[in-house]
Amino acid sequence: MLYLVGLGLSYKSDITVRGLEAVRNCSRIYLEHYTSILMAASLEELEEYYGKPVILADRELVESGSEEILHDARTQDVAFLVVGDVFGATTHTDLVLRAKRESIPVEVIHNASVMNAVGSCGLQLYNFGQTVSMVFFTESWKPDSWYDKIWENRKIGLHTLVLLDIKVKEQSIENMARGRLIYEPPRYMSISQCCEQLLEIEDARGTIAYTPNTPAVAISRLGSSTQTFKAGTIEELSRYDAGEPLHSLIILGRQCHELELEYLLEFTDDKEGFKKAVIEDQEFFKPAPWVPPVEDED
Ligand SMILES: C[S@@+](CC[C@H](N)C(=O)[O-])C[C@H]1O[C@@H](n2cnc3c(N)ncnc32)[C@H](O)[C@@H]1O
Repeated sequence: MLYLVGLGLSYKSDITVRGLEAVRNCSRIYLEHYTSILMAASLEELEEYYGKPVILADRELVESGSEEILHDARTQDVAFLVVGDVFGATTHTDLVLRAKRESIPVEVIHNASVMNAVGSCGLQLYNFGQTVSMVFFTESWKPDSWYDKIWENRKIGLHTLVLLDIKVKEQSIENMARGRLIYEPPRYMSISQCCEQLLEIEDARGTIAYTPNTPAVAISRLGSSTQTFKAGTIEELSRYDAGEPLHSLIILGRQCHELELEYLLEFTDDKEGFKKAVIEDQEFFKPAPWVPPVEDED
């Protein structure tokens, strides 16, 4: 059996009881190690907790070396651990399809994901549109396909969850060119960098999907003991130091219910200023009034 097990958001003990029982009975355990991190537990702590060695699975192993993960899984139990939920903003359907092709039975054991836990900032999950991912820009590479999705969400008044880039096991261009297998330290995008990139692309596009004064919520280390929310405009949050990773951002949609707003006001130092930014954003992005079609008089 191949078990795909969600680990939850922060602590080693966030794994579900069913997940833990399955993991402890597995002969090999892989921890997917490139789309998220378990903030409050080291690899050694996990190994001690499960009573088994844990193999770190980088992108290369999961995407190109899945035969190693699936090896023997028809006769032995193998666990593939994913931080958060197995299918929460990650693409492990490929591994499931490969297992099925090889007639390996698969069981998924779910857990909390950033995709649902963001609800703890007070915004209703019902009011979210498409989730987008913000990647690190370079001098020559500034992918911005997320911009159109934010624009679509904002046109119908929905909130946008922005997930931020993580780079692990990355080679410098020089080391890559010289064929040296030396990796850079892991990098995690911060709220401030994400907001700067948002403003840079809005400036370049000029479509006005949002403005520097559009209200947003910074979310740091969700589900950990230092979880923090900060409400402010995109401009303000581009100067906000959110501390240690992981970070996510929510760009508010125009359909912000008054209860949602009341909850968010707890996370700002300038309640009046934030309320004003929300009202002005709602007013500015208000859709044009509906005009009924003219009746044909013949
Ligand atoms: C590719 S997603 C993987 C999500 C994961 N599978 C899950 O279900 O939660 C990783 C991104 O989600 C966001 N994220 C994940 N966990 C987070 C947390 N605890 N607090 C804040 N943001 C988080 C970060 O932007 C991070 O770079």
